[in-house]
Amino acid sequence: MFDGVARRYDITNTVLSAGRDSGWRMATADALDLRPGLRVLDLAAGTATSAQAFASRGAMVVACDFSLGMLRVGRQRLQRRPGTAVGAGGGAVTLVAGDGLALPFPDASFDRVTISFGLRNVVDVDACLAELARVTRPGGRLVVCEFSRPTWAPWRTVYLEYLMRALPGLARAVSSSPGSYVYLAESIRAWPDQPALATRIAGAGWTGVGWRNLTGGIVALHRAVRPPGAGARDH
Ligand SMILES: C[S@@+](CC[C@H](N)C(=O)[O-])C[C@H]1O[C@@H](n2cnc3c(N)ncnc32)[C@H](O)[C@@H]1O
Repeated sequence: MFDGVARRYDITNTVLSAGRDSGWRMATADALDLRPGLRVLDLAAGTATSAQAFASRGAMVVACDFSLGMLRVGRQRLQRRPGTAVGAGGGAVTLVAGDGLALPFPDASFDRVTISFGLRNVVDVDACLAELARVTRPGGRLVVCEFSRPTWAPWRTVYLEYLMRALPGLARAVSSSPGSYVYLAESIRAWPDQPALATRIAGAGWTGVGWRNLTGGIVALHRAVRPPGAGARDH
């Protein structure tokens, strides 16, 4: 499915989110507390849009996804804009094909792990969260950026109407695979709300779980820490 939407994925995101997507990516970068030289895994990285933003803050980013179509579009964009594969702050993006349920990285390889609009699409969410913990060093940080549940009831009603009625039509106008956006709306409705996702994250071996709502809860940023004393194989 993601190979099918890859060509117009980024522009579709910008249209469907009315331009909010770049702010959500910046908030994710802030939550990661990036510094030059930190090793960051951006899982389900898609076209590496967020990964590029992280590298511009000096991080050494591995953008991992199992859709070769999405990675190819990401590679073209990184090549088209010299200076973005290597970020202004000295960071860099490396594209890696891999499955979030069996990551091709050793234990404790990363200082930060993050996943944006990806966890909802993984077939086994709990296994993926545990796999992310495995590749994070003890004391390292997780940030999940994902659609969530607006907290104010009237706003929630407007948003759900948008998702179910307006979004499929808009997707027909801009996406290279409009049918996939019916899945998008349905998967968002079926996704756990903020407290329920926090419980799932804690259950996968993370500690200090909390979240922050963006755009009234349309998106939530969940953060957590790998327990400092965690052994390599205690999940
Ligand atoms: C909605 S896109 C998000 C892309 C990007 N993170 C962004 O913020 O635009 C979801 C991505 O999750 C990827 N994905 C889903 N399951 C995966 C898995 N098990 N391993 C790796 N990537 C996966 C898909 O290939 C797709 O690129």
